[in-house]
Amino acid sequence: MEGEEDMVANMANISAIIKEMFGFHWVGFYLVKGNELVLGPFQGPVACTRIKFGKGVCGSSWERKETIIVDDIDKFPGHIVCSPLSKSEIVVPIVADGEVIAVLDIDSENYGEFDGEDRGFLEEISRIIVKRE
Ligand code: SME
Repeated sequence: MEGEEDMVANMANISAIIKEMFGFHWVGFYLVKGNELVLGPFQGPVACTRIKFGKGVCGSSWERKETIIVDDIDKFPGHIVCSPLSKSEIVVPIVADGEVIAVLDIDSENYGEFDGEDRGFLEEISRIIVKRE
């Protein structure tokens, strides 16, 4: 990201490097547009394009303004199924001036893939994205 201030360009490369290094099923961003999230840069299978505030893991992370780790997506009420292969998920909000402007969503084909270490590094990435903006 050094020398690049465009948020979408940085999101595109972040999705690519995380997907390539860790091989997760789906890695990408949803951008806040009005009262919903709209699909942004991602790597992986085709995904749902719009998610309402408070809906699914992504919309809940936006509403709560906090990272959500789901060990088993079948146990998260209202989880939005984009791919039947996803088993666990982490969603990190990207916050600028106190407002969520996007979320970073990563899906894994394994149960219980994500922990506090993932949360720490991904939250750091979300802060860097905003600083570059
Ligand atoms: N499962 C997410 C929807 C996005 S896809 O996983 C790419 C959710 O419940 O918000």
